[in-house]
Amino acid sequence: MTTIQPITATTPDAAPAAAPSAVRRFPEGFLLGAAAAAYQIEGAAHEDGRTDSIWDAFSRVPGAVVNADNGDVACDHYHRYRDDVALMRELGLDTYRFSTSWARVHPDGGPVNAKGVDFYSRLVDELLEQGILPWLTLYHWDLPQALEERGGWANRDTAFRFRDYALTMHDALGDRVKVWTTLNEPWCSSFLSYIGGAHAPGRQDVEAGLRAAHHLMLGHGLAVQSLRERDASLELGITLNLTVAKPVDPASAGDVDAARRIDGQFNRVFLDPIFRGHYAGDLLADVGHLGLRDAIQPGDLEIISTPIDALGVNYYHGEHVSDRAAAQPLEGQAPTDRPTRSPYPAAEGVHFHSQGLPQTGMGWEVQPDGLRELLGRVHREYSGPAGVRLFVTENGAAYDDEVAADGAVHDVDRTEFLLGHLDAILDAIDEGTPVHGYFYWSILDNFEWAWGYDKRFGLVRVDYETQERTIKDSGLAYQRVIRERGLTA
Ligand code: NOJ
Repeated sequence: MTTIQPITATTPDAAPAAAPSAVRRFPEGFLLGAAAAAYQIEGAAHEDGRTDSIWDAFSRVPGAVVNADNGDVACDHYHRYRDDVALMRELGLDTYRFSTSWARVHPDGGPVNAKGVDFYSRLVDELLEQGILPWLTLYHWDLPQALEERGGWANRDTAFRFRDYALTMHDALGDRVKVWTTLNEPWCSSFLSYIGGAHAPGRQDVEAGLRAAHHLMLGHGLAVQSLRERDASLELGITLNLTVAKPVDPASAGDVDAARRIDGQFNRVFLDPIFRGHYAGDLLADVGHLGLRDAIQPGDLEIISTPIDALGVNYYHGEHVSDRAAAQPLEGQAPTDRPTRSPYPAAEGVHFHSQGLPQTGMGWEVQPDGLRELLGRVHREYSGPAGVRLFVTENGAAYDDEVAADGAVHDVDRTEFLLGHLDAILDAIDEGTPVHGYFYWSILDNFEWAWGYDKRFGLVRVDYETQERTIKDSGLAYQRVIRERGLTA
C-alpha cells in the first residue's frame, strides 16, 4: 500500500495545554482519497474507438435522464486528466479510485482497443508520478451496449466476458496497479437497472434482475480467481452499497419483517454469497422462485466465495422501514416522469419512513452514525471473520452549490457532511472496527446518472460551460484533514 506521510501539523505534544483532545487522528496507514467513475467524468464518448455503453444508449431514451443530459463530454477528464490529477495532488489525496470503461477497452465487447487501454495507462502513470495510489474499479455500470443486446447481465455469458476484460486490464496495468475492485455497487447494476428500470438498461423485469445479480456475482468470482492466479500479491475486492435497515418500531413484528426484507434484498443478497458461499434461506424463500434459484449452477457459489482481500462499503444513508404507511413519508424523489418500479421484488407493503433529519440535495437523510453502525456490523458478521480489510469506498453529498461573489463555493452543508462521516469512522475505529480508508464521492462534480448534471457531489466544482474547476470549501476542509491526518476541532 502507499506510504502515508507522518503528521506534519500540530501534534498533541506541541499543542497548547487545552488542545490535545482537539485532534482525532486516523490510524497509521489509513488512506484518505476520493473517487469518480469513467462514464461520469471522462467524456470523449465517441473518440479513439470507444463505442456505446448501456449508459450512452439509455441517455437517448426520452425522459430517462434529467434535461436529456449524457456523458458525451461530462468533465472532459479524458483530455484534462493531467490537470485533474494535479488537483488531487493539491488536495493531498493518498489515493484515487477510478473506473475503466469496458466499452473503451473492448468496443462492442470485441477485440482490445489499444488506444482505449493507453488512456488508462497514461492516467495510472500520472497518478504514480504524483504519488497517488491508483485504485482501479473494473465495472462501474457501463456495460458495452453490444453485450446488453446479447442479454446483458441477465445472460450468464456476460460473467465470462467480464473475466476476459479483467484480464485485459491486468495485462495492461498489472505491473503498476496493485488494488483491484471488480464491481461497483452490483445492487444498482441489477436490482435498480433490470428491475426498477431507473438506471441503464432501464429494464423492468424481476427475473432478469435476479439473474443479473447472480451473474454479476459470478463475474466477480471469476475475475478474482483469474487475477489471483496471475498475481498473488494483488489486493482484490469488491464495492457494495450497503445500508442500515431499521424497523420504525422494533416491537412491531411487521416492521421487523420489513427491515429483514430490505436487509436481505439490499445487503445480504451480495454479502452472503461472497463471504459465506450461499444465499440466505429467508432471501431464497422471498425471491428464489422469481428467477434466482434457476440462475444458480453447480459450482457457482464456490467461485463467488473465492477469498478477497478488501471490501469496499459505499454508504450514503440508512433506512427506517415499516409495514405501515408513514405519517411522515420519506419524500421519494424520481429524477424524471418516466415510470419506474420498485427495485425490491419482494417488499410489497414495505414503507420507508422519514426520521425528520436534514436531507441532502438527493433527498437522502443525513445519518453519519449509521456509518459507524454499518461498519461494525459488516466487520463482526462478514469481513472480520474472513480477515478482509474494510474501506469506505464512497460517501458524499449533493447540494445546490452556488458560486459566491468571491468566486468560491462556500458549501457548509457538504463540509459538515464530510467531517461528520469521518468522525463516525473514527468512532467505529474506537469501538474496535478496523477501517483502513475513506474515499469521498466525488473528486469532481459529474454526471449523476438519471439526474444528469443536476446534482453536484464534487469537492471540486466543474463549470460545464468552460470546464473550469474550483476547489470548494469542502475540498479545502478535506485538504486540511489530509494534512493533519485527522480532525481538528
Ligand atoms: C453511488 C455510485 O457508485 C456513484 O456512481 C454515484 O454517483 C453516487 N453513488 C451518488 O449517487
